[in-house]
Amino acid sequence: MKCSFILNGDDVSVQTPPSTLLIDIIRDELRLKASRAGCLQGECGFCTVLLDSSLTLACMVPAFRAHRTEVITIEGFEQTDDYGDIERGFADAGFEPCGFCRAGRVLTTHAVLLANATPTESELQRAAASIRCRCSSTSRFIDGMRNAAQQRRERENALKGETGLRILPG
Ligand code: FES
Ligand code: FES
Repeated sequence: MKCSFILNGDDVSVQTPPSTLLIDIIRDELRLKASRAGCLQGECGFCTVLLDSSLTLACMVPAFRAHRTEVITIEGFEQTDDYGDIERGFADAGFEPCGFCRAGRVLTTHAVLLANATPTESELQRAAASIRCRCSSTSRFIDGMRNAAQQRRERENALKGETGLRILPG
C-alpha cells in the first residue's frame, strides 16, 4: 500500500506491505539511521519518533499508520531550537547518551518539557524509566533533563522579554 507523509519537513511516499513497521521504513527505506531498532517490543525506547507531535515507538506501529501524518525523527529534531536546550542541558550534567538510546532520550526529554516546563521529580523519574539502558547513570540523565528544563525556561523568558512592551523614557 502507498504511504505518504511529511518526514522532517519533506514530503515522502513509500510502498509498504501492511505488516511493515514504521521503524523499518524509516531506517531501511528512507535511510535515516539514528532511530534504532532495539528490542522491537516496545520496551527500550530506542526507536522513538514524534508522530503528529506525539512520542511514538516506531517499532510498535505499522508504517501505514504514518499516512497523512507528520513524522519527526531525531535527525529533524536536531535542527530545532528546542533541541539546543536539551543538548545544553545534557552537556551541563556531563551526560552523553550513546547512539542507541540517544533518539529516545532526547525526544522523551522534549515530551517532558512540552508537558511541563518545570517537571516534577516523579515526572523525571517516569521519563527516565521509559528508556532501558544499563550502561549509563539514570541520575545523570535526570540531571540532564532538569538542566534542559532550566535552559528552556530561560530561553522562553528571554523571548518574552524581546517581544514584550518597552517603556520609552519620558
Ligand atoms: S525498539 Fe522500539 S521500544 Fe525497543
Ligand atoms: S544504551 Fe545508550 S547509554 Fe546505555
